[in-house]
Amino acid sequence: MKGKILAAALSTSMGLSALTASIPMGTVAADSAATGKVIYSTDFEDGDVSLFTNRGGDDTTELSASEDFASSGSKSLLASGRSESWNGPAFRLDTVCEPNTQYYVSAKIKGRYYTNAMLSFQYSGTDGKPKYSNLVQNLNGSDWITVTNAKVSFTEDMTDVYVYFEGGDGDMFIDDFSIVEVPAKPIEEDIESLSDVYAGYFRMGTALTPSDLSSKSFMALAQKHLGDSVTVGNEMKPDSVLDHEACLAYFEETGDDTTPQISFSAATPVLNYAKKNNIPVRIHTLVWHSQTPNWFFKEGYADDGAWVDKDKMLKRMENYIKAYFETLEKLYPEIDFYACDVVNEAWLEDGNPRQPGEQVSGSYEKSAWVKVFGDNSFIEPAFTYARKYAPEGCKLYYNDYNEYMDGKLNKIIEMATDLKEKGLIDGIGMQSHLDARQSLSASFPSPAMYKNALAKYAATGLDIQITELDATIPENSGTQYYDVQAEYYSAIFDAIVEYKDYVSAVIFWGITDDISWRASQRPLIFDADFKAKPAYYSIIDDVERLEAPSTQPTTQSTSDGKEPTLLGDANCDEKVNLADAILIMQVKANPSKYTITQEGAANADVVDNDGITNLDALEIQKYLLGLDTVLG
Ligand code: XIL
Repeated sequence: MKGKILAAALSTSMGLSALTASIPMGTVAADSAATGKVIYSTDFEDGDVSLFTNRGGDDTTELSASEDFASSGSKSLLASGRSESWNGPAFRLDTVCEPNTQYYVSAKIKGRYYTNAMLSFQYSGTDGKPKYSNLVQNLNGSDWITVTNAKVSFTEDMTDVYVYFEGGDGDMFIDDFSIVEVPAKPIEEDIESLSDVYAGYFRMGTALTPSDLSSKSFMALAQKHLGDSVTVGNEMKPDSVLDHEACLAYFEETGDDTTPQISFSAATPVLNYAKKNNIPVRIHTLVWHSQTPNWFFKEGYADDGAWVDKDKMLKRMENYIKAYFETLEKLYPEIDFYACDVVNEAWLEDGNPRQPGEQVSGSYEKSAWVKVFGDNSFIEPAFTYARKYAPEGCKLYYNDYNEYMDGKLNKIIEMATDLKEKGLIDGIGMQSHLDARQSLSASFPSPAMYKNALAKYAATGLDIQITELDATIPENSGTQYYDVQAEYYSAIFDAIVEYKDYVSAVIFWGITDDISWRASQRPLIFDADFKAKPAYYSIIDDVERLEAPSTQPTTQSTSDGKEPTLLGDANCDEKVNLADAILIMQVKANPSKYTITQEGAANADVVDNDGITNLDALEIQKYLLGLDTVLG
């Protein structure tokens, strides 16, 4: 590449380099070489570095054109005088790029002696505060390191938008920098909508992050196939919602460090999208060991403060949950927040609580909740407060991964049953981060193991939601295992369909393989070009198209004077069996999804003649087990 081009409608073609990234915002490793409109491109041969700045504030970095090193030609951009690892050259995007459009950023990076860098992204949110995320990490080596086609985008809600280079210390050189608009690719219009296929079964939804909104094709896929529910991928987690600066300011002003201050500014783009398109939202997540700042558990909200005691943490928890729901209600009264992951990932595979401790870089296993409470006794108050403050119609879930492994599964059931008896929980979230591997027999969990978990969760009488579905194949294996993945997805969906009466939502953790937290293992059902993979076809094959249930919620649970036709026959199929007991529990737990006729309600009211209650379900089960010889 020679010379510099600004906003010229040219094509460029770049090779592919394998990159790994942790991807809160934007992704890398596009499959094909990029061709698209070049927005800006320079090899610094003309000595012009004027479109680059340092990061402002305390950043002492000085930028110049240098002949010390060059990846192409004889010059590159030199960033010298860096005093912190997060200092470095920044390129402002929102003056040359459009919102809601995706761009590829490519560049060469080098340290003077060793390269240790990251490509990052920064913007100011609606609260005016800067937010950061890493686009490409681990740009390490002893020579020029190439970043190819790191995807970046921003929305109208973001201002002062930059990409910048950071990491390591000492001088940093940049060469062959370009920003290219990702060419729009059409989606397949003529294939059936997943959400239509499953309309009679459960909601079909996906997680979305703000950067997803910028790809028109991506969002067209989201709306066509997975438009019944949105989960905000990262921005409704505690580390996004808790506002450290505001917490400190409030504490300083009032002396009160039990009333956490919060902000939904990072989630705004996705919530506005849900509001505009009238899509119900799953809240993810209130109480979690991960993506929760350590200072939340410390005296005075200080990073290095002493751990607070249980009483103070309970107050913080209550006030946090209260503020969370009240703020959502105030900002988004139109949105149907229909489900909420109250507690996420609290149990280990052996059924024990996590180890106590804080989050340290590189190891996110320990739980500060356990550190403060000594055990998992924080779970029940979390549900108690969520029940107290969640809006009507917002169902409360416990959510976990590896939820099909015995120790964890049994513990979740024990906990959920107890919470259910106390009226505190409505459902179980099966994250379902699965691994199809290279053959059905090697897959983990096996479809049978997964089905066993569905059966056991269903037997609790609680609702089930599949909350974060994806199924990986071996890393960097191209399309080789697509058919294996399809076979696996099909078997998993067969199991879910078998339990359709207990499952109210199936939510994918993403849509296209390239924009996934497990992108290198291509876990989703559409590819980076928005084309349906074999896995898509495998889950719509052989599915009986059922009529969608009436969307009119009914809380009908009384017989309105109707006489029973067959005592115990809640579903009016002229039989008394376990399905009747389950229907009663479902109607009690989730009346907006499960309905019962007046005749059914009359049949179901087997004890006390007081409308249907869980005691009726219990009595039917006792009767079926022969513990009671007559109903009532
Ligand atoms: C993941 C996000 O997708 C990533 O972007 C982030 O870096 C880490 O978290 N279980 C959960 C989700 O409950 O919140 C996680 O999401 C995936 C595992």
